[in-house]
Amino acid sequence: MKKFNIAVVGATGMVGSKFLEVLTERNLPVENYYLFASARSAGKVVDFMGKPHTIIELNEENINATKVDIALFSAGGSTSAKFAPSFVKTGAVVVDNSSEWRMCDDVPLVVPEVNASDIDWNNGIIANPNCSTIQAVVALKPLHDKYTIKRIVYSTYQAVSGAGVAGYTDLVDGVNGVAPKKFPYPIFNNVIPQIDVFLPNGYTKEEEKMILETQKILDKNIKVTATTVRVPVLNSHSESINVEFEKPCTLEGIYEALRSGENLIVMDDPANISYPMPCNVTGNDDTYVGRVRIDDTVDSGCNLWVVADNIRKGAATNAVQIAEKLIAKMSK
Ligand code: A2P
Repeated sequence: MKKFNIAVVGATGMVGSKFLEVLTERNLPVENYYLFASARSAGKVVDFMGKPHTIIELNEENINATKVDIALFSAGGSTSAKFAPSFVKTGAVVVDNSSEWRMCDDVPLVVPEVNASDIDWNNGIIANPNCSTIQAVVALKPLHDKYTIKRIVYSTYQAVSGAGVAGYTDLVDGVNGVAPKKFPYPIFNNVIPQIDVFLPNGYTKEEEKMILETQKILDKNIKVTATTVRVPVLNSHSESINVEFEKPCTLEGIYEALRSGENLIVMDDPANISYPMPCNVTGNDDTYVGRVRIDDTVDSGCNLWVVADNIRKGAATNAVQIAEKLIAKMSK
């Protein structure tokens, strides 16, 4: 069986270290792993796959010296803008977790459960969507296939891990009264109705990402609006999603569609107070949906509550699933 060389770029970060965990669990056919980070971490030794791996400084010389088939990037937008093309030049396919390439027309934006076939038209870069978008479209795909979604209203409750190590530290240290470094206000005992920067229209960049990425992945004809909020939860994003359909729906039909969804778990039993929450979802690769209700303020629509581990399915797992599809393609 053919074996592949894989680079992890940003291997010391919040998502990067989850890449290493997920790669260990999924056991891809890999010859060598190369772990890259900034000059700050170069030379550090990380135990991975039962072997010590030395962190390599990300620069042109080292990229050219390590001929890889796939590079998994999670080192921020500017690093990706600068170095993803360098990997592509060496013949590698980059799976990038930043927002740098997502809306480029020649870059597929992929959630394998929804649009895996878009991998086929990549030109060397495949973008991993925003964490909030990924879990939303996994839940919405079977409903769109069955009822054709007309409009979506997202309200998110996003964990601090989505802001990397610095965001996580703001919550942990904030419990002891330490002033925030990453967020504009304390996140402990607070909610912040701002994720990423504000745009001229009053929406935040995170809200714009959810809107545009949902349309790119699922269907450009769907009207989407969003409010994205940071909450004092360490890990796993929750979302209230209001959906309006073109075709008539029933509650039974919605449950049936959701139960057929790939890597989607319906957890919805009010009698036993069962519904998804960060505390019962963190550590899993699936997306969870509950609190399913018909919205009778519209001709056809429903409300959903969707929770997923934002560092796993929202980032590392989704990228590794894309790498698995690439490996299957490259092995043919
Ligand atoms: P380093 O640890 O050496 O700074 P997080 O999202 O958790 O903040 O992690 C960001 C990741 O991106 C880290 O692995 C970080 O490496 C890496 N990174 C940040 N800037 C650069 C850069 N200019 N070149 C390479 N890696 C970078």
